[in-house]
Amino acid sequence: MSSITHKNVSVEKITTSKIDQVDFSNLVFGKQFTDHMFECDYIDGSWQNPTIKPFGNITLSPAAKVFHYGQAVFEGMKAYKDDDNKVWLFRPLENFKRINKSSVRLAIPEFPEDFFLEGLETILNLDKDWIKKGEGNSLYIRPFVIATESGVAAAPALEYKFMILLSPVQAYYKGEVKVVIAQSFSRAADGGVGAVKAAGNYAAQFYPTNLAKEQGFEQVIWTDANEHKYLEEAGTMNVFFRINDTLITAPNNDRILDGITRKSVISLAELKGISVEVRRITVTELIEASKNGSLKEIFGSGTAAVISPVSAFSYDQKVYNLPKVDDSNRFSTLFKTKLMDIQYNRSEDPFHWRHEVK
Ligand code: COI
Repeated sequence: MSSITHKNVSVEKITTSKIDQVDFSNLVFGKQFTDHMFECDYIDGSWQNPTIKPFGNITLSPAAKVFHYGQAVFEGMKAYKDDDNKVWLFRPLENFKRINKSSVRLAIPEFPEDFFLEGLETILNLDKDWIKKGEGNSLYIRPFVIATESGVAAAPALEYKFMILLSPVQAYYKGEVKVVIAQSFSRAADGGVGAVKAAGNYAAQFYPTNLAKEQGFEQVIWTDANEHKYLEEAGTMNVFFRINDTLITAPNNDRILDGITRKSVISLAELKGISVEVRRITVTELIEASKNGSLKEIFGSGTAAVISPVSAFSYDQKVYNLPKVDDSNRFSTLFKTKLMDIQYNRSEDPFHWRHEVK
């Protein structure tokens, strides 16, 4: 294992890559990891010793606060390879800002920008052979922070670990999904942590999502916790509704994640001259629109799936099917294509979202 130090980040390289053992045509999302990982510890009041090392297990005290109080936040990003083997990130500073926003909400110390960018670019350079060219192929990047201090007193930890893992992925395409509109469970509440990527937000979705799956649906559309009247998110994604030719999505508030794909879709729609309404939308309005034929599409937006179209939704045990819109007329197809063309460096980048990893 050789060891070198960049400006801030020290690097311990693997001796033998495991890349040849991986079947890149048969990847399960988030199961396979690259050769290296980035790690940095918060000790004695500062983030120190940012290191890239061979991917492997970490050792923690069973009393580490992350296990007891869920003091953990994460991000999801992707790196893409273009036809000339250049590596690109999509709006990486947005993820950096959001992980710190998430950290602040969970009383975790913010991570320094130079460590983040240097760590990310260095590990991507080391493991760039794991990024495969071609439609849908990318490297899913998982930065996260956990409270590592040992002790079960219910107070913020004094020690943390920030890590970045890289996982080669293929297109997340699962076809269209059928969803249930939540009538009793909630994803987030006023004043809670719904607007940030707290790990517990996702754990809390598993049980209601399992119940939806038992009824033959794939995901839940989350409604507001007070009245279950307003449509807020879909599964782990933000959600968009197309009524006639207007795109509607819920406004950001402390229950809704400030999704990077969400805001990119809004910008692209505005650029295309599509009418966008960022406003609250009720279940009643959705059902009315479905009944009178003006509801054309529902789709989720997120890093993993990019855009995920919905084929049907259920409410009060009644199923409402979305109309079959021709692919060439679908907003979901339009935005997915536009986003991926920018991400894979196949088109102009009017908003300067692409960032080349050099
Ligand atoms: C995303 O698509 O943005 C996500 O957060 C998905 C992740 C939970 C796998």
